[in-house]
Formats: sequence, structure tokens, C-alpha cells
Amino acid sequence: MELYLKGKTAVVSGASQGLGRAITKELAMEGVTVLATARNEALLHALRDEIIAAGGTAPVLLVQDFVAPEAPQRIAAAALTNLGHVDILINNAGRSRPLDVVAPEDEWAASMTLDFDRHRQLTQELLPHMIERRQGSILNITSTYELRSINASAVAKASVVVWAKQLAGQLGKYGITVNSLQPGLIDTANIRRFFNAAERRQFASQEIALGDFGDPQDVANMATFLVSPRAKYITGTVAVVDGGMRQYPF
Ligand SMILES: NC(=O)c1ccc[n+]([C@@H]2O[C@H](COP(=O)([O-])OP(=O)(O)OC[C@H]3O[C@@H](n4cnc5c(N)ncnc54)[C@H](OP(=O)(O)O)[C@@H]3O)[C@@H](O)[C@H]2O)c1
Repeated sequence: MELYLKGKTAVVSGASQGLGRAITKELAMEGVTVLATARNEALLHALRDEIIAAGGTAPVLLVQDFVAPEAPQRIAAAALTNLGHVDILINNAGRSRPLDVVAPEDEWAASMTLDFDRHRQLTQELLPHMIERRQGSILNITSTYELRSINASAVAKASVVVWAKQLAGQLGKYGITVNSLQPGLIDTANIRRFFNAAERRQFASQEIALGDFGDPQDVANMATFLVSPRAKYITGTVAVVDGGMRQYPF
């Protein structure tokens, strides 16, 4: 399916590995120039080499700690300088943070900063430009909200979903879409910390209809569609890529 993405520009946070890396590569293969940002410079360079070797559009790299207070301004400035304008924003950087029911304030604050505030702030930096151009697609990579134990990252991501729905309501008149993508369990470093191979098999066979964790590419496929002109009438939604892990009331 032609996605009409060729020549567009994007910012992807958390682009060095996992879901952000797969999304960056998929967008680049569709002809999108991506500002790819994360902390790990070596991984970012390896991603750029891989994209060029595969015939994709070379991304612009920005090594930046997303938690740094000035990160949203720096990323937005680098994007506008290098790309001219931003059509697509993928709010992806994040880290699962399981906590005890009574947990230190700094752990909660760290998750709210990384998984909610910085995404909201980067979006706010880029929104005036999108509104002026009356064009933009914003996609937030969130998380399940059906965990049975405390995970501060998932709480922050729930805030992202509510904020995104509110934003979508106000930005539709400018032709800007805002959606969230909720991964189930996708095989990345973020998740490998919590499951060894045997645990993964056992969990997946019991809890996931399709019988295994997903691949980053599964998320990249949905993400690329959702930020493409093909999805121009989709906004305020939460798309789920979880192999049937979540059971919905109908
Ligand atoms: N994989 C899943 O099953 C799953 C499930 C639910 C939600 N998610 C969400 O999906 C998103 C991507 O997760 P993933 O599984 O792809 O994780 P991952 O493989 O660990 O990748 C996380 C990315 O975020 C970046 N990042 C983390 N902290 C950062 C910081 N302080 N500054 C800049 N970049 C930072 C990392 O880059 P550097 O280390 O290079 O900085 C990396 O590129 C996260 O928001 C996560 O919460 C994933």
C-alpha cells in the first residue's frame, strides 16, 4: 500500500533501539527524513548506516538525554534547523519502572519526567509550527493500563493517553491528528530485563492469543500507517498491538 510518506519529515525520540529504532527505519524506508534522537551515539550511528545500506533516507542524528531539562527545546531546535519543518512526531522514549506499593518520590518523579512531561513539552515546542502549517501527525507510544502491580511508567503513559485525547479534540481543526499506540509485550531490551526465554514461553502461551511476544517491526508497521496520510481520518484513538493479550469488553 502506498502510504504517501515520501518527502515528509519526522522526529522520533528513543530511536537508538527497540520500538523507536524500528519505527525510524520503517519511516526512513518510506522516504521520510527522521531526526532520530537518544543518548547512545554508537547505536544511532549504526542505525543510520543500516538505513543507508538498505536504501532508506538517511536520518539526522541528535545525541541527547531526554530527561535533561532543556531537551525538548534542543530537540525541537535541531529538528527545525535540520528538517525545516516537522510533519510527524513520534513520542517514544521511555522505560518500564516496576515499583513497590510504597516507593521513593524520586522514582515516581523520574518516570513522570521521562514518560510524560518531556513528551508533552517536546510536543508543545513543535505544536505552534504544526498549527501554523495546519498539518501534523503526533503518535505516542504508550503502555497497557491493565497491569496488576505498580509500574510508574505505565501510570505516566496513562496520563499521555488522556492528554492525547484532549489534544486531539483541540487540534482537529488544524488538520493535526494525535493518536496513541499501546504495545503489549514486544521483544526489546526494555522487556527482556523481566523475562528469560522459559518465562517468556510460559507467559506467552497462557496470556497471548498469538502465542508469543511481538517484534518491534509489528509496532513499526502500525505506527507508520497511523502517521501517514492514509490515516487522515483517525485521531484521538488508542491502537493496540499486543497479539491478543488484552481482552476487551465489547
Ligand atoms: N517493548 C514493550 O513491550 C513495551 C511495552 C509497553 C510500552 N513500551 C514503551 O515503548 C517505548 C519504547 O520501549 P522499548 O521497548 O523500545 O525500549 P528500549 O528497547 O529499552 O528502548 C528505549 C529507548 O528509549 C530511549 N531512552 C530511554 N531513556 C532515555 C533518556 N533518558 N534519554 C533519551 N533516550 C532515552 C533509549 O535510548 P538511549 O538508551 O540510547 O538513550 C531507547 O532508544 C517506551 O516508551 C516503553 O515504555 C514498550
